[in-house]
Amino acid sequence: MASSSGCFFVVTMAILSQFLLAPASALINREYIDANCQRVKNKSFCVQTLTTYPPAASATGLLPLAEAVVSLAVAHAEKTAGFAAESAKKEAALTTQFNECHDAYVGIVASLKSANLQLKDTPDTANYDVMVSGDEIKRVKDTVGKNIDKSSKTLMEMTLQMEKLLDLAAGATDAVDDDDENVHRRA
Ligand SMILES: *[C@@H]1O[C@H](CO)[C@@H](O)[C@H](O)[C@H]1NC(C)=O
Repeated sequence: MASSSGCFFVVTMAILSQFLLAPASALINREYIDANCQRVKNKSFCVQTLTTYPPAASATGLLPLAEAVVSLAVAHAEKTAGFAAESAKKEAALTTQFNECHDAYVGIVASLKSANLQLKDTPDTANYDVMVSGDEIKRVKDTVGKNIDKSSKTLMEMTLQMEKLLDLAAGATDAVDDDDENVHRRA
């Protein structure tokens, strides 16, 4: 009896603490997510993606949020670079094309990593680094966009997702840049 009521107490507290703690932290961080998502093409995609990505949802300022968003984009770019490299080995007839796409994604990974290093001190450069990845996206689309094989189609789907994540990263770095300019103006 004692142990079952003890157990009930623990479960009750566990459930209660979720109600007590979750909304408070969600409220704080929505402020930054909303500020970020004002600046992107698809606001609902932005809010949906960032509220369900724990490093973004738990970020406590525009800078850590931008770092989380750029890291999310880096992870997707690395995964896609790996897929392109694998496809280059598997699809003998399309090796050159997939290698070209792999190179494009290696370029995106490098730009985004550079963006994350620039964010704190020169956010305008970080924003530029994110924007230039658009050229690499175009290179991928021009290379495999019209192909009908399964690997090309998968690569194009991953590229459309990459485009959306780059838009979020552009918004995030832009938000940090604006914030930075406001601080300088006030100073
Ligand atoms: C915006 O994002 C939502 C959620 O991911 C998606 O359902 C919708 O199709 C997108 N809209 C546009 C215009 O891309």
